[in-house]
Amino acid sequence: KCPGLELIPVIDSTNQHLLDRVGQLPQGAVCLAEYQEAGRGRRGRQWLSPFGTNLYLSMYWRLDAGMAAAMGLSLVVGVAIAEALQSLGADGVKVKWPNDLYYQDKKLAGILIEMTGQAGDAAHLVIGMGLNVAMAEQEGSGIDQAWTNLARACDGLPERNQLAATLIQQLHQTLEQYEQVGLEGFIERWNRLDNFLDRPVKLLIGERVVEGVARGINSQGALLLETEQGLKPYIGGEISLRGC
Ligand code: ATP
Ligand code: BTN
Repeated sequence: KCPGLELIPVIDSTNQHLLDRVGQLPQGAVCLAEYQEAGRGRRGRQWLSPFGTNLYLSMYWRLDAGMAAAMGLSLVVGVAIAEALQSLGADGVKVKWPNDLYYQDKKLAGILIEMTGQAGDAAHLVIGMGLNVAMAEQEGSGIDQAWTNLARACDGLPERNQLAATLIQQLHQTLEQYEQVGLEGFIERWNRLDNFLDRPVKLLIGERVVEGVARGINSQGALLLETEQGLKPYIGGEISLRGC
């Protein structure tokens, strides 16, 4: 048995599996599954997780700096995944604020970071990633937005073990780097990968819709939106970005 690496064919949610075991996990512990019965996205949304064709991966990370330091982490993880996929031959993978990966304006992967811990103490994070690898049209027909898969972004798909290993390694390295330099070290990299940079977008904030041009992120990880009133930062988990 390899401590810290669990490969489970069928599970409710890889995030939930690690969240339930937070006190017993070594730093960087990973859970990988072939199928999720209750894969989840942000705000209770469903993550469709058919058997065998995609990657469902979660990693445990203890962040000594505490919960407040986890702000902006989904942006950093997005950069890690995009760069890992690029190194495997996928050209044109982009990030979408705050927690998605896109290819050709369609959703390729999603990131869900969940945490436990007391204010003032270390934060226990579970970083989940759902990556569509070869999901067929019919398997993803229940998804209510445009989606794509890695097979369309690569000339030849990387071997599955290599894909998982590269993502795990890149994620691990990125988290170590984030602990040392914070978001600061990732802003330029994120902006370079931004799917919506300099494009018209709308932000859905509860019932409110704000339209403008996306201008990347600032040092807090806020999305910068240019409207007639000027450049304004938007931050917070209740905001959804859509292309116009
Ligand atoms: P937001 O901008 O608020 O993050 P979102 O629509 O991307 O909006 P998420 O909670 O991030 O919402 O992701 C869940 C959504 O992703 C689902 O409601 C569905 O539309 C879509 N989805 C579910 N499964 C998949 C999948 N395997 N591949 C691509 N998209 C999926
Ligand atoms: C999103 O776009 O809202 C994030 C989707 C995250 C899905 C992954 S799949 C592995 C991990 N386990 C879950 O239940 N969710 C994440």
